[in-house]
Amino acid sequence: MKKGKAQKKGTVVLAFSGGLDTSVCIPLLRERYDYDRVVTVAVDVGQPEADLRQATEKGRKFADGHYTIDAKEKFVEEYVFPSLKANGSYEGYPLGTALARPLIAEETVAIARLEGAQVVAHGCTGKGNDQLRFDFIIRSAGLEVVAPIRELNLTRSWEIEYARRHRMPVTVAKKNPYSVDENCWNRSIEGGMLEDPAFHPPEEIYRWTVDPRKAPAKPEEVTVSFGAGIPVALDGKKMKGYDLVQEMNLRAGRNGVGRNDMIEDRILGLKAREVYEHPAATALTIAHADLEHLVLTRAELAFKRGVDDRWSELAYQGLVHEPLFLALSAFIDRTQERVNGDVDLVLYRGSVRVAGRSSPDALYSGDMVSFDSTSLDQGHAEGLSRFHGIQAQFLKKRK
Ligand code: ARG
Repeated sequence: MKKGKAQKKGTVVLAFSGGLDTSVCIPLLRERYDYDRVVTVAVDVGQPEADLRQATEKGRKFADGHYTIDAKEKFVEEYVFPSLKANGSYEGYPLGTALARPLIAEETVAIARLEGAQVVAHGCTGKGNDQLRFDFIIRSAGLEVVAPIRELNLTRSWEIEYARRHRMPVTVAKKNPYSVDENCWNRSIEGGMLEDPAFHPPEEIYRWTVDPRKAPAKPEEVTVSFGAGIPVALDGKKMKGYDLVQEMNLRAGRNGVGRNDMIEDRILGLKAREVYEHPAATALTIAHADLEHLVLTRAELAFKRGVDDRWSELAYQGLVHEPLFLALSAFIDRTQERVNGDVDLVLYRGSVRVAGRSSPDALYSGDMVSFDSTSLDQGHAEGLSRFHGIQAQFLKKRK
């Protein structure tokens, strides 16, 4: 391809994972798009250290500049915990990739500003959700998007060949031909043989959870303490967000908690087969939702269910500064002020059970509800009872 110096286009900043797609983007942005400088940004949201190390090494070696950004704590505090407050889930699994993408895009945009670049590139395909999540943040920042994989309609085999030609190491092992996306809240596995919805996932795709049938025969107990809707301690030990999530991943994962194998509706409307692991997310969401039932009013709970669903849908779409999303988040935060207390969980062979809960903000009154107490006069219920379902009573009697 001919490159006239006059057409050179300055610096482009690339959101970089070190995987095949983003790796081939480096030479593509030079050769096909004529950028002078390709700067890579790897954002640490709790993916495996080896992946991050590989991204850093590759970025340093093949790009014109590289940044690795530790966003782990920020991810947990500003994306994961807000999702937990919303009991965040999409079609039955806890959100994961969707929560991390806006942050990765924001951090990449910040580097673009630092580097004086007008353009941000990413390696998303034109078939998934991530392209929409990235583009939304980049365009909202007033920057331009370049998506080589989507625009050039590349196939994986072409990319492998192209990477080899550029002497870039490719690690697409035959034994593990899956596309994995990982952050500390959720691990997602797709592609390869999993693209056949009838194919049974082999045990080796799992990394965070043991086969529930092979989990210990002895149940494991853990007490989660919440403050304003956020987990702050495990078994009475105060922990920072990221460490707490990691500890819970370990404990719930070794008891086989937190697997999903499902057909998911992507934003584009395509159905996809997805396998997920999310031990901490499952255990903490069960604990959180249970505590809400102790402290929120019936009216709050009923209304919040709808808010949680709508919040989750917008989070799934990556529309994190859509005004409705911000308004729903404000509502959720307000309700969480009273979500304080302890929840005792029992983790056992793939299941999570709430064994007990307590809160200084409980709306529960043992004295009022107890069979043995006389502090409420039962006789007062008699009048209410006469009017209960009075219209239906009337119709039924007339028939
Ligand atoms: N379908 C999920 C989402 O859109 C996960 C996608 C993760 N990507 C992957 N290559 N495994 O949030």
